[in-house]
Amino acid sequence: MSKREYFDRYAHKWDQLCHLETEDKLEKLLRCFRLRKGSQVLDLGCGTGILFPHILKAIGKKGRVFGVDLSEQMLLEARRKHRNENIFLICAPAENLPFLPGSLDYVIAFASFPHFEKKAKAIQEINRVLKRGGRLFIAHLLGSKELQEHHRSSGDIEVMRDILPAEKVLKRMLKREGFKKILIIDKPSLYIACGSK
Ligand SMILES: C[S@@+](CC[C@H](N)C(=O)[O-])C[C@H]1O[C@@H](n2cnc3c(N)ncnc32)[C@H](O)[C@@H]1O
Repeated sequence: MSKREYFDRYAHKWDQLCHLETEDKLEKLLRCFRLRKGSQVLDLGCGTGILFPHILKAIGKKGRVFGVDLSEQMLLEARRKHRNENIFLICAPAENLPFLPGSLDYVIAFASFPHFEKKAKAIQEINRVLKRGGRLFIAHLLGSKELQEHHRSSGDIEVMRDILPAEKVLKRMLKREGFKKILIIDKPSLYIACGSK
């Protein structure tokens, strides 16, 4: 099964499987990002849009959220749940983003980056679509080791080898694509890698 088919298959039960009792944690996580009011934010690998309300709260009525995902079924769930006119959903791969260069203030890849097939290409694309000074956040509510174990123990061949790159490797990738001010926090129940264009 392809990754797209895999996530399509899980879409209708995704929130029950993965997002019970995470709302408070997500709210806290979003506060760490300090998104500015009126920003244009790409939620990359948005799934069913679990982050949308938190992003919208942070960026206010003049901001816009673009939810991009490979899985049409995830996006259909997202549309069913979220009707806000400032949310735009697009089916596309992280490795080929349908945005003009320099058009976004923030890219957030929450619980999605390990699944991207071509991580270096995705980082290159993210850098291309960010404005100068724009920021990337790769985030999880698990540390990298916990995440690796979580995917491994799923037993699902499509994701069991999906991991976060080692800190050194990710830093090198981000630097190579032009990111500055790179910071990686990796501890139990929290992973954040961020960089500025
Ligand atoms: C673990 S889910 C997380 C979804 C959402 N961020 C959440 O936390 O509920 C990973 C998501 O990334 C998407 N995805 C995987 N590879 C992708 C790619 N190359 N480009 C865009 N989305 C991708 C999947 O379809 C899936 O919806």
